[in-house]
Amino acid sequence: MSMYSSDQEKYSNVPNSEEIIAGVELRNAKRKSRWPAICDVAQSVTGLLLGIFLFCHMAFTSSIQLGKDVFWNLVAFSGGYPINGEENAWMHVVLIGAITLLVIIHALMALRRFPTSYRMFHNIKSQYQFIAHRDTTLWIVQIVTAVILTGMVFPHVTPMLLDPHSIGPNLSSVHTYHNGLVWTFIFLCATELHGMIGLYRLAVKWDVCSGNREALRKVMYCVVVLMIACGSMTMWTYYSNGKALVESGEPIVKYEPVNNWWK
Ligand code: HEM
Repeated sequence: MSMYSSDQEKYSNVPNSEEIIAGVELRNAKRKSRWPAICDVAQSVTGLLLGIFLFCHMAFTSSIQLGKDVFWNLVAFSGGYPINGEENAWMHVVLIGAITLLVIIHALMALRRFPTSYRMFHNIKSQYQFIAHRDTTLWIVQIVTAVILTGMVFPHVTPMLLDPHSIGPNLSSVHTYHNGLVWTFIFLCATELHGMIGLYRLAVKWDVCSGNREALRKVMYCVVVLMIACGSMTMWTYYSNGKALVESGEPIVKYEPVNNWWK
């Protein structure tokens, strides 16, 4: 007699392959659930949306390279300036809130993948030492960058959620200056590695590139390097703008555009 059920009960349902994917083991065949599959899809879909968001985010923040006016006008646009001739804080809150919600759902779903005991951790380590596969290395990079991001994303979005008017060429620059280059660079590297490796893993999982994984991985590495290069230049622009503003000794005020595209 087993601890959990009689032999008759235990062997009454031998899980088929579909049930195994749904997380059904012999002893809980009676309690099979769709939730593991739903959680998995939720993690993938939120990850895909966040990955796509990172490209939009890069275009949006890097617009400052074309001038403070360009960034100001984009921020004004997403705040609905063209609708009523003023920036609507609530529109920023809705957008940032939606992205933050995706981050939270994604993180909660991903928690299932973390080793929760020394034994699990040790198993992963031994498996990795036994077969050092590159995709396993990438999985470990995902776990490490996920921890870094969990610590860095909320301090990034919370001030913007609480004070959406502070998003703009001057105040965002001063913000980057105060955060410093080291913090921002670590945040940038963790973000791009996690996001781009994540998209690569989705492409493999959904068989987007019909098996040519080597080539796909190379493309992904190139995109990571390009995103970090582009982000570093953008970071430098915010940082040096912020430094100049702080060192000027003048009161730091919200930027006034020379050219308002929406007037
Ligand atoms: C809708 C939500 C978001 C908005 C409105 C936003 C806005 C901004 C702005 C204005 C900057 C410029 C400097 C600064 O203020 O720090 C910035 C920088 C940055 N953000 Fe976000 N962000 C959002 C979400 C995220 C998320 C979810 C991540 C990462 C997972 C992220 C990663 C970064 C990084 C790494 C930088 C610095 C590097 C660079 O300038 O390219 N952001 N963000």
